[in-house]
Amino acid sequence: MSFKVAVLPGDGIGPEVTAEAVKVLKATGLSIEFEEAPFGGAGYDDCGEPLPTKTLDLCKASDAILLGAVGGPKWDNLEPITKRPEIGGLLPIRRELNLYANLRPAKTLKPLIHASPLKEGRSMMDLIVVRELTGGIYFGEPRGRRDNGDTAYDTCLYTRAEVDRITRRGFEIALQRGRKLCAVDKSNVLETSRLWREVVTEIATEFPQVSTSFMLIDNCAMQLIRDPGQFDVILTENMFGDILSDEASMITGSLGLLPSASISDPKNGVVFGLYEPVHGSAPDIAGQGRANPLAAILSAAMMLQYTFNDTESALRIENAVEAALNQKLRTADIFEKGTEIITTSEMGDAIVRELMA
Ligand code: IPM
Ligand code: MG
Repeated sequence: MSFKVAVLPGDGIGPEVTAEAVKVLKATGLSIEFEEAPFGGAGYDDCGEPLPTKTLDLCKASDAILLGAVGGPKWDNLEPITKRPEIGGLLPIRRELNLYANLRPAKTLKPLIHASPLKEGRSMMDLIVVRELTGGIYFGEPRGRRDNGDTAYDTCLYTRAEVDRITRRGFEIALQRGRKLCAVDKSNVLETSRLWREVVTEIATEFPQVSTSFMLIDNCAMQLIRDPGQFDVILTENMFGDILSDEASMITGSLGLLPSASISDPKNGVVFGLYEPVHGSAPDIAGQGRANPLAAILSAAMMLQYTFNDTESALRIENAVEAALNQKLRTADIFEKGTEIITTSEMGDAIVRELMA
């Protein structure tokens, strides 16, 4: 079977890390057709829109999307704000393509155990944040200003159907992993959280093999630092998942290590998805070969797992990453004494070497 992948390198370090992910995908020997399109600040520069129509059309005509990162100081103050890469690019692409399930695995890599800010032995973790991605306060209406701009408001809104579909995804993923699901909310305060609890409680009865628990978001933020190993699947709404996934990533040692998949419902047996590193565009180090491509490369592995349904090739890439790290090869963000600093593209080459070995 042959797949078509839309490549949206984006801004900042996006193009550098995406190039390495494409390099690694090509090295797997799988039959993939790549096509590139401008997105984010690059889309704005190209045709005045962060999500150009031709880019959206290409995405719709593809099986999967490989995204770098978007944003940077050049586009931070554009008006109206819908011209900015995040609000006018990232959020609408998720919504337009119905990519409601954001999967963000955070796993301690043994060779990097010292890179974690947590004390030795405390950082072992293998969890996945299942974040709702197209609803909640990032999308709710109305939003705006009143009283001459002195009062601002956003709306957090969820429908039962939105909570239902992401919850099912969470349980299905739990079944394939450690069979533990922790639903994180703020049900002592928020009405939307109480709806989430209701729905999760109902659906949990359909998955008796999974042990389900509930945790308040503030407690979860603390528990992640105290004992990250206690979690398997963390199921949560859009904003909480945004925050918790950054926190979890740091426990692995660097934001530069975390991949993500944003997926929709399967179409003719194929899971359509957008794959991107959790990190941002890091404009301060762009173009210097200092970016860590591992999050992008691991995102490509998630593409093989979810869209290509090729767990074996995904695992080959994951093993190649671990092997390169075992050889003490490091990008600057994860450098420690006794290791060798290499560039973004040298890291990509190292992974390809390991794949071929
Ligand atoms: C992320 C990012 C985005 C989000 C921003 C840039 C809109 O933080 O993917 O986690 O909040 O979803
Ligand atoms: Mg974020």
